[in-house]
Amino acid sequence: MFKGTIIAKEAAKGFEEIQDMAGTIGINGTAHSLPADPRTSLLDFLRHDLGLTGTKKGCDHGQCGACTVIVNGMRINSCLTLAAMHEGDRVTTIEGIGGPDAPSDLQHAFMAHDALQCGYCTPGQICSAQAMLAEIAEGWPSDATADLTSEATFSDEEIRERMSGNLCRCGAYANIVAAIRDVARGRADATV
Ligand code: FES
Ligand code: FES
Repeated sequence: MFKGTIIAKEAAKGFEEIQDMAGTIGINGTAHSLPADPRTSLLDFLRHDLGLTGTKKGCDHGQCGACTVIVNGMRINSCLTLAAMHEGDRVTTIEGIGGPDAPSDLQHAFMAHDALQCGYCTPGQICSAQAMLAEIAEGWPSDATADLTSEATFSDEEIRERMSGNLCRCGAYANIVAAIRDVARGRADATV
């Protein structure tokens, strides 16, 4: 498989019908006009302007990961970037991944493993995990990858390292790792 294929697929999910993105930003498959105030962070644009409150504000300083969303297939902290910087980009929030009526495999796994307590960090955890699994599938190495000359393989160490930017004040880390491990194995089984 060509490098970038999985990340590109991640970026394209839900956006098949959007053709002209000039002056707009794509959110979960819908084009929205950029905010009038160019100082608006992507996080505030999502929560306050669009009412997509699944994305959470924790620290507002890039330290907790509660605001993680997926932009063009890659996870970012939405509190650290301006909406105006994302003209033409394709943003996926937790609302675009799944919901109560149609939860994604990761959302199912988080519920099955009781991988949350208050749930405040959970949307960011799931967005981060979604993009992180694509990074491993692409073979991108991390600090936990033993051999940087070979492609990354899936392990609990890789999950912990790659999810280290998403804090959980309730300490549900063990169950979060278990949930992501289940999904990774399930997706691997589905491809053989
Ligand atoms: S709110 Fe963005 S990293 Fe904490
Ligand atoms: S479940 Fe409460 S902060 Fe993670």
